[in-house]
Amino acid sequence: MSQAELPVDRHIETRGISKSFGGTRALSNASVSVRSGSVHALVGENGAGKSTLGKIIAGVLAPDDGELLVRGEPVSFRSPREALERGIAAIGQEPSVVPHLTVAENVLLGAEPRAFGTVRRRALRKRFEVLVASAGFDLRGDTPAGALTIAGQQEVEILRALARSAEVVIMDEPTAALSAAETAHLHEIVKSLAAQGKTILLISHFLREVLELADTVTVLRDGRVVRTGPTAGETEDSLVEAMLGQPQALTFPPKQAPRADAPVLLAVKGVQALGVAGVDLTVRAGEIVGLAGLVGAGRTELGQAIFGVRKMQAGEIELNGSPLTGGARKRLRAGVALIPESRKDDGLVPDRPIFENASLASLGGLTRLGVVTRRREQDVTRQILARCDVRARSNRSPVRELSGGNQQKVLLARMLLCEPQLVIADEPTRGVDVGAKRAIYEFLVGLAEEGLGILLISSELEEIMGLSHRVAVMRSGRIVAELAGDELNESAILTAAFGNQPRQAA
Ligand SMILES: Nc1ncnc2c1ncn2[C@@H]1O[C@H](COP(=O)(O)OP(=O)(O)O)[C@@H](O)[C@H]1O
Ligand SMILES: [Mg+2]
Repeated sequence: MSQAELPVDRHIETRGISKSFGGTRALSNASVSVRSGSVHALVGENGAGKSTLGKIIAGVLAPDDGELLVRGEPVSFRSPREALERGIAAIGQEPSVVPHLTVAENVLLGAEPRAFGTVRRRALRKRFEVLVASAGFDLRGDTPAGALTIAGQQEVEILRALARSAEVVIMDEPTAALSAAETAHLHEIVKSLAAQGKTILLISHFLREVLELADTVTVLRDGRVVRTGPTAGETEDSLVEAMLGQPQALTFPPKQAPRADAPVLLAVKGVQALGVAGVDLTVRAGEIVGLAGLVGAGRTELGQAIFGVRKMQAGEIELNGSPLTGGARKRLRAGVALIPESRKDDGLVPDRPIFENASLASLGGLTRLGVVTRRREQDVTRQILARCDVRARSNRSPVRELSGGNQQKVLLARMLLCEPQLVIADEPTRGVDVGAKRAIYEFLVGLAEEGLGILLISSELEEIMGLSHRVAVMRSGRIVAELAGDELNESAILTAAFGNQPRQAA
């Protein structure tokens, strides 16, 4: 491309930038151009090089190779201060405010001509008030900055950038540590900055957020630019595919077969219930059994019959050779847990803290742990929340502030506290993002490795194939095929699920 063709609205451009840390190549020949006044997102897996690119543009890091241009002019920043002089400011995931200074001081110090004493203080306050009003933030200038939440500290950083007339704002995972309400507010801030003509570089792994806020998106993979294009031409799936570089968007933990002598944990014998027309099925300790089939084949109904929330009309169910009887409470105490399909009526109390929602108390004594002290309960709950990888600002945040994926993880934690032996997971990853899906897969595989039995109900063939040691296929309330080893493949599952009938529109 000749110089004459350079469109004038290119605000920031990187040309062939490379950067290594020791032996790690964080960026390889990365070329990105960011239009003036656009919200430009950078997406990619962990380690793809997003932050490194953001830091190079913000003057935090120097590239090993390649060029950085601001409004068509090559620059080489030696510090963030130099980047700021060219109108570029960065807002971190962990904001860097000076905790013991006030909000107004944090925003304005260094951006002001020097003055002293009360004059300075009064001028500072006035300037701050103008700034905060124009940004529409609800911040008091005299609060110590250290007393603010992360969201508040980010607002301080944004004001600081505005006070220095920044025209480019780089945000690196700004909502990663925010609650749902704070995230919504930050989205409004991004939109309003864009409306004021600022250029925003938004690094985020929340693809929905990217699709909502950004007009352009660059996908990075292994330090390389995969593509840049309008978000209007992308979907979450298309972005994931580009990020991972392969059409199957999901990867699964390695399968470890259950021990050859693993005992039968669950035995379902001739069970009939509404929607279940006579089923025999076993699950061994350490085994993940997939339950496949079309919608309406009776999979959820079978799960409910095993858990005791669907009345059985005939047959028997045994756990470790003893009959399972009674309702869900009794079965939970016996060691059967169900992760239900719909999380709407799952018993999470939205306004109560995460900790409380996960803890034994929320289960009304439905546990096999027996009598535990409050202290031990707290220790165990904390460990289990961490193990389930619940991502929250604090375990004391209300559960409603969590994303769907994280709410699902709170339910997993609560279930684990019951020390189950058999887990029935009904569509455990429906409606959660790719990252949370992976976490849930690892969680289920980990349980099986500890010797639990898992009955996995899923409509995603890939998930069934990726996780199950054995697959039972249901059709019209019956198990019509059991597949394992060489026989286990997608086409065998589909053939069994559809039967010999001509395929109908589902
Ligand atoms: N300061 C550093 N020292 C060593 N390696 C680093 C450093 N910063 C980043 N890396 C490495 O560079 C690669 C890209 O990292 P990063 O830009 O942080 O990716 P992303 O933000 O997309 O997750 C990763 O392999 C990371 O481990
Ligand atoms: Mg990063």
